[in-house]
Amino acid sequence: MTVKVAPSLLSADFGNLREEVKRVEEHGADWIHFDVMDGSFVPAITVGPVVAAWLRPHTNLFMDAHLMISEPENQVELFAKAGIDLITVQTEAAVHLDRLLRKIKSTNVMAGVALNPATPATALEYVWPLLDLVLVMSVNPGVGGQAFIPEMLPKISYCAEQIKSRKLKTELQVDGGVNRETAPAIVKAGATVLVAGSAIFAAPDGMALINELKRL
Ligand code: DX5
Ligand code: ZN
Repeated sequence: MTVKVAPSLLSADFGNLREEVKRVEEHGADWIHFDVMDGSFVPAITVGPVVAAWLRPHTNLFMDAHLMISEPENQVELFAKAGIDLITVQTEAAVHLDRLLRKIKSTNVMAGVALNPATPATALEYVWPLLDLVLVMSVNPGVGGQAFIPEMLPKISYCAEQIKSRKLKTELQVDGGVNRETAPAIVKAGATVLVAGSAIFAAPDGMALINELKRL
């Protein structure tokens, strides 16, 4: 099985998102990772469902929205309507995680859960069967370009074991500090989808990295 690559638009040119999406698509991107920040769950504010809806007609790629926002339950319908394929919510922002995941699925969108670095994967014990994706955050969410936290490798392995032993089809996504140096160990630990922002959009040889990562 080859690993999928999901460039994070967080490090793209926000004045030219349509072209940036086309550029990564031409270079082999599998998914588009759409980072949503609200100035509450994290200090930064990025983009929301309106921008997702405007981008949607310009790419056929699978789009996952990573909601780093408080009260994510209020945005589910809007992202579904925008044409997002998978919505990932932060466990720490979900008061009623089970209900939220079921709500996402009821809109015919796939459902994912992200774990901050300090959040144990055992938090997922009773929701595994609902998960189309688990996202192991390998940096603290909020900004691009941070260093990969190596303590997350055992968490990735643990999630891979859970998915295997429970015979699930859940994707195992890793986000934060993914680059040429860190990716081999992340894939070895069991990741199936790699998110990379700065290593793709802000590095001179970033576009070539997409296919390099897929070959790992
Ligand atoms: C971090 C975001 C990431 C970010 C990753 O809060 O969720 O998707 O764009 O950026 P890099 O790849 O630069 O660590
Ligand atoms: Zn992200």
